[in-house]
Amino acid sequence: MAESRREIVVAKNLGFKYSGAKKTAIQGIDLSIGVGEFILLTGPSGCGKTSLCRCLNGLIPNFYQGEWTGQLHVDGLDITTQPTSELSRKIGYVFQNPENQLFALTVEKDVAFGPENLGYSRDEIRKRVNEAMKITGTLALKELAPYELSGGQQQRVALAGVLAMKPSIIVLDEPTSFLDPHTAEDVMGAADDLRRELGLTIVVVEHRLDLVARYAERIIVMDGGRIVADGNLEEVLDEQFDTLEGLGVGVPRVSLLWSMLRRDGLLKGKVPTHVEDAASALSGMMTH
Ligand SMILES: Nc1ncnc2c1ncn2[C@@H]1O[C@H](COP(=O)(O)OP(=O)(O)OP(=O)(O)O)[C@@H](O)[C@H]1O
Ligand SMILES: [Mg+2]
Repeated sequence: MAESRREIVVAKNLGFKYSGAKKTAIQGIDLSIGVGEFILLTGPSGCGKTSLCRCLNGLIPNFYQGEWTGQLHVDGLDITTQPTSELSRKIGYVFQNPENQLFALTVEKDVAFGPENLGYSRDEIRKRVNEAMKITGTLALKELAPYELSGGQQQRVALAGVLAMKPSIIVLDEPTSFLDPHTAEDVMGAADDLRRELGLTIVVVEHRLDLVARYAERIIVMDGGRIVADGNLEEVLDEQFDTLEGLGVGVPRVSLLWSMLRRDGLLKGKVPTHVEDAASALSGMMTH
């Protein structure tokens, strides 16, 4: 697998300090993300997750002023020299606050905005808008104005707008903060379907690991602007559970329960990352 891995994100010693800020927001970030990975990015509030996402889509340094260090390439583009218009074709970004992202008169126009700006034909635009709205379950909202939507609906419309661009990587910054658990699962599931069907790369910032554990193979944990853990989700949960808990990362409840029982010697084996895993491990133990 290693030799066929194509990198879509390569960061070398990446750092950024917002102008006027006392501390660097992110520092010493070395990161390589392969095409088609589903990555969970987490860590305590203020640790630099959104700032790293802003680097990935070029808002830093094109929009936010400050001191940049190191290098960052996304899908072959040097982030520091590409105009944001070029970057927006390839890198889809769903903001932490979706109302910052929606500005057209209707939902449908909003979703069409990106492809229209890329100069596609009317047919192509209609096709992309329809597909994106179908996947995100927003077709019924198309005549509404963005301000008439709930937070969760806004998040889904923002995701539709990003999907209509058919980017090669999608960065979702806490995309489920306004969603009920069921809808949040649906959005994560839709993102995962896209990854498998279209070979998209997905980076999701999320505090609640429960929601993403089923889909993400890899977890990146930040603290104080740095990456403090990076690896296979199951392995990191199994081997660095105490570190994650210490940082206040919202570890899956089933992993927490398992690790407590394991500490007390009542259970053995790897910490499961979601309920189905735990169920099959337990039923395996019971039938032996
Ligand atoms: N526009 C800005 N100007 C100056 N400093 C900023 C700006 N945005 C973020 N920061 C600072 O950068 C650091 C990292 O913030 P960032 O928003 O990246 O954290 P985060 O991990 O996304 O937090 P949260 O989980 O609360 O969203 C913080 O110290 C924050 O105060
Ligand atoms: Mg943030």
